[in-house]
Amino acid sequence: MCGIVGYLGNRKAYPIIINGLKRLEYRGYDSAGLVVMEDDGFGLVKTKGKVSELEEKSKFLNNGSTLGVGHTRWATHGEPNDVNSHPHLSNDEQIVLVHNGIIENYDSLKTELIQKGFVFHSETDTEVLVNLIQYFKDKENLNLTEAVRYSLNEVVGAYAIAVMDKNDPDEIVVARLGSPLVIGIGDNEFFIASDASPFLEFTKEAFYLDDGEMATIRRDKDIDIRKIKDNLKVTHTVQELKINLEEIEKSGYEHFMLKEIYEQPKSIRDTMRGRLLVDEGIIKMAGIWDYQEKFLNAKRIIIVACGTSYHAGLIGEYLIEDLARIPVEVEYASEFRYRNPIINRKDVVIAISQSGETADTLAALKLAREKGAFIYGINNVVGSSIARITDAGSYTHAGPEIGVASTKAFTAQLTILSLIAIKLGKHNGNLSKERFNSLISELDNIPELVQKTLENTAEKVIEISEKYKNATNALYLGRGYNFPSALEGALKLKEISYIHAEGYPAAEMKHGPIALIDENMPVVIIAPRTGYYEKVVSNAMEIKARKGQIIAVVNTGDTELSKIADHVIEIPNSSEEFSPILAAIPLQLLSYYIAVKLGRNVDQPRNLAKSVTEEKKI
Ligand code: M6R
Repeated sequence: MCGIVGYLGNRKAYPIIINGLKRLEYRGYDSAGLVVMEDDGFGLVKTKGKVSELEEKSKFLNNGSTLGVGHTRWATHGEPNDVNSHPHLSNDEQIVLVHNGIIENYDSLKTELIQKGFVFHSETDTEVLVNLIQYFKDKENLNLTEAVRYSLNEVVGAYAIAVMDKNDPDEIVVARLGSPLVIGIGDNEFFIASDASPFLEFTKEAFYLDDGEMATIRRDKDIDIRKIKDNLKVTHTVQELKINLEEIEKSGYEHFMLKEIYEQPKSIRDTMRGRLLVDEGIIKMAGIWDYQEKFLNAKRIIIVACGTSYHAGLIGEYLIEDLARIPVEVEYASEFRYRNPIINRKDVVIAISQSGETADTLAALKLAREKGAFIYGINNVVGSSIARITDAGSYTHAGPEIGVASTKAFTAQLTILSLIAIKLGKHNGNLSKERFNSLISELDNIPELVQKTLENTAEKVIEISEKYKNATNALYLGRGYNFPSALEGALKLKEISYIHAEGYPAAEMKHGPIALIDENMPVVIIAPRTGYYEKVVSNAMEIKARKGQIIAVVNTGDTELSKIADHVIEIPNSSEEFSPILAAIPLQLLSYYIAVKLGRNVDQPRNLAKSVTEEKKI
């Protein structure tokens, strides 16, 4: 995915665009570019590399211009280099465009345009679109808005775009299909962006463009919004955004990831706020309550997700099956969408996604909807694509997550899944009143336990990270609820430190992976006191017998595994249902500190982007 930002108003556009790009850099960071409208035409600079490099190269554009757009890129078509960076110019250099998404039929469009005499300088799909706009503009003698609309009707794919015409210093045309775009409205000024972070200090009044819509934004005029397909006029209600600027800044932390790890006591509390009412003995969730017959009569619940959200889904399976006794299946959205799954009208399909924009998850959900399932979203980003197409859902309210490695969104997802499981278990009679009350008061105390975990484990984790920072492989083991914790711990280490790591169910070790164990293999064993504790201790002994280095995540006061392990990290005691939330904390910290010690770019690891809104990659 990429980030786009634009400004049209009375202020200088350049600083708004540069600062906006810095905030959007989590969306893609292999190249960046911007264009401002100057008296004599476009002032355009683009470069491979980060926004800081763009800033260095483009300072001279910090003039009086009050109109411009910028882009930060995560390459899909064409390697990251100066030429492939956005913005892209049309052949006649009259039109400029930034794009987040993928034009799937770019190849055939490009061939047609080449036959008509167009030349291409980059390998991007975006350059095809900007030339298509020029083509229609000239051929049909159209204004920019009409030319954009004609072109988009020829395009197959996903996009959020912003387009400017050199001859019109008062206009930006934007459109979206499958990639997010929000329009901020100030006093005689307009902001456009992939998310609201670039303009929060200027205005909180905004609206999200819907899929299949485009808007013409003109100085001193009302925004004209139309359906791309049939040009029908559309109206949107402007809403007041609830995000604060402090939430999207580092607030003194070295990295967003560390800030987000430390925010978890608060983000979990925020996720429960207004829902978990311990004094009244209720869980209030309108999304579940209003559709309770769908959930309670569901033949099964299918959870679709990717990456960390998929791991949350796996824990959700344990929670919902244990507490509500409703069958649950969890699927990678990317597999589900392509494998002709059997979906019935009595199925409930839950999509878990921090961003709410992950292409595979969105497509899986659309498929489930087509097949008549009830679709539910667990998303963090308010107004995201998934949140908008679901029948109902619950926001996680973890606040903006900027670090590419998902941390606070994960524990917020586990919190929502716990609430859902407990609520369903109560309503379908699987949980006694006593058990319900005990679970909700324990869940209510989880933010405090997370705080303690942060306070009590960080120092130990830093020590361990020093010892294992040069490991080339690592194994993570767990059983039951903490098998997905092992998968998640391994994913965190891989993605930010680039150390190869595998998560395994502890008992599966002897079916193959145990062959990997020697004195150089760190093995992280997640073993809070649960029904399978003794079995995990036996697994640990098998590893020790082969000289593996054991890092044990155990409950406070553990005596057995602690004796075998080389390093012990203690997390507070809790019911097994909530132990993955607590276990996640030291695992996140471990990956963080190892990555920092290796000098990795923690918030923007190589080859990744915060969410994968396109299917194809280079
Ligand atoms: O926004 P989503 O939750 O749908 O994103 C899914 C994955 O791309 C995401 O969890 C990814 O695996 C993270 N980088 C993990 O830290």
